[in-house]
Amino acid sequence: MITPATLKDAATLSDLHHRAFDPAWTPRDFAAFLTRPAGRALMAADGFVLFDVADGESEILTLAVRPEARRQGLGARLMQSAMAMAMAEGAMRMTLEVAADNAAALALYARLRFHQVGRRTRYYKRAGDEIDALVLATDL
Ligand SMILES: CC(C)(COP(=O)(O)OP(=O)(O)OC[C@H]1O[C@@H](n2cnc3c(N)ncnc32)[C@H](O)[C@@H]1OP(=O)(O)O)[C@@H](O)C(=O)NCCC(=O)NCCS
Repeated sequence: MITPATLKDAATLSDLHHRAFDPAWTPRDFAAFLTRPAGRALMAADGFVLFDVADGESEILTLAVRPEARRQGLGARLMQSAMAMAMAEGAMRMTLEVAADNAAALALYARLRFHQVGRRTRYYKRAGDEIDALVLATDL
């Protein structure tokens, strides 16, 4: 079941984030996000998506699924729920940034009809490596 996340979920979101990203956001980071007027969060037991909706646009900030729960459709369902919620709030376009070497996320976003609209060279620093960020977008 996918439901909106609230402040009481900040610790759970941080735990899920730890399983997907290093460095991960702390519960305090999530609490700060959830109190921003544009901030939206949808979650399930094994994953979540954070996004902004403002001025007819939406931006995905984070999408994460617990490693042992991947490839079962949750990432796609979270994204589709975020897209539906953003549309219902008047957004006509959704954007996101993804590391150019993140094959799983790129495949997922391509299936959801996102296309590349930009590239930020050497945007992510990771263990001495510099990875480009791709900017993707789709009309809603
Ligand atoms: C990206 C992520 C959220 C995908 O979540 P998921 O629940 O495994 O995705 P889904 O099961 O909904 O996959 C939907 C489709 O995306 C594509 N996909 C997902 N993972 C893939 C992988 N490892 N390799 C290739 N394609 C993949 C496939 O087309 C898949 O459909 P299929 O399983 O029918 O072939 C998950 O891998 C994750 O949390 N990664 C770490 C965090 C991250 O990179 N987040 C995105 C940052 S921008």
